[in-house]
Amino acid sequence: MTTPDLDPSTVLVVGGGGREHALAWAVARSAGVRRVYAAPGNAGTAGERGVVNVDLADDDLDGLVAFAAERRVGLTVVGPEKPLGAGLVDRFRTAGLPVFGPTRAAARIETSKAWARDFMARHGVPHPRFTVADDLAAAERAVRDLGGRCVVKADGLAAGKGVVVCDTVDDGLAAARGMLVGGVFGMAGARVLVEERMDGPELSVMAISDGDAFTLLPPAQDHKRALDGDAGPNTGGMGAYAPAPVATPDLVDRIRRTIVEPVLAGMRAEGHPFTGCLYAGLMLTAAGPSVVEFNARFGDPETQVQLPLVESDLAAILRAAATGGGVPDARPRPGRSAACVVVASGGYPGVYATGRPIDGLAEAEAVDGVKVFHAGTRVDPATGAALTAGGRVLDVVCVRPTLADAVAGAYAAIGRPASGGGPARPGARFDGMHHRNDIARRALEAPV
Ligand code: GLY
Repeated sequence: MTTPDLDPSTVLVVGGGGREHALAWAVARSAGVRRVYAAPGNAGTAGERGVVNVDLADDDLDGLVAFAAERRVGLTVVGPEKPLGAGLVDRFRTAGLPVFGPTRAAARIETSKAWARDFMARHGVPHPRFTVADDLAAAERAVRDLGGRCVVKADGLAAGKGVVVCDTVDDGLAAARGMLVGGVFGMAGARVLVEERMDGPELSVMAISDGDAFTLLPPAQDHKRALDGDAGPNTGGMGAYAPAPVATPDLVDRIRRTIVEPVLAGMRAEGHPFTGCLYAGLMLTAAGPSVVEFNARFGDPETQVQLPLVESDLAAILRAAATGGGVPDARPRPGRSAACVVVASGGYPGVYATGRPIDGLAEAEAVDGVKVFHAGTRVDPATGAALTAGGRVLDVVCVRPTLADAVAGAYAAIGRPASGGGPARPGARFDGMHHRNDIARRALEAPV
């Protein structure tokens, strides 16, 4: 519902990570957009032309609604899952404010993994065998039934950490016990899923929908493990690239027909149409694409490589999805690939320090095709400089004609601090930084 006195030239982006910097950057370049607010934003959005940070947390529902109403914001785009799960979109709609994102009921496709698996089963969406367990005895039966080769997941939101991939019965029981008895994920793990493990490459496919029509973003691949060779603990994502060569037109068509369309139709049929970005996290198994998980939002860091590849006007696409009546095509820029290397704080995804000065951002962006999106950064009030403020700090993105060039460009833009165990090198850098050195390597070694 659009109220006539709203200002269509203003957009509010809710969130403060790399995904939200990329959204704010892309929307600020859209026709007819004069002012983008980022709440709370970061040092990157603070320095982005046409973007202004607003000191409101992404879970301050009252504050966000009041701000958007007072500034007559023409479109609000919600980045993270937490405010979606808390009902921010429902609150905006009640206030008559246009908003891009799913309602709380539709966001259950991400906020409850048990609900999502039952939904997939109801609508014939390909998924692995699973058991929902509320107690250890039920979880143990399911783990033993799968011979220990299983995935144990917390039902609720656990900041991307609530998934344990297990090889043995002991691994499975330890994971289930930690969640159900040890409370390692609090209430999110009070119910668990025990799932059959799937094998194959992963693929992230995002559909922007008004609940009925949809358009797909270029398919992307993420790198979830902390270290090269997919070793080390799981993270929020250490890098991404798009379009993923593995996603042939036939495969994308199959995903469209067997996954995206049935999900959107099922959500409509059950009375809570999915408006927003449906993120299908897929495993490309020998039997075809199967759903690892759905998210009710854009991916991070996938967004950082997908949006720079979209030629169409992003604000027009998001506005159409928010208000209904069809979604324009997200036309890809022809002959372009994008790669993103995440530069993280030392110790991430474990304990890490913050407050480190970040150098070399201008040097990084002088590299052909490079854009640095900020993830965990803040402005130093004393100097105006950027400081580290999170685990994932910078997303160094490069867009070039080939994936190999894009990867080379992103790495060329990353420097080394004097404390980095070798001669200092120009480019984006801070003390203690670490990043993977093999982003997209698998795709480059085995192109499809
Ligand atoms: N890249 C993983 C996620 O956005 O959840």
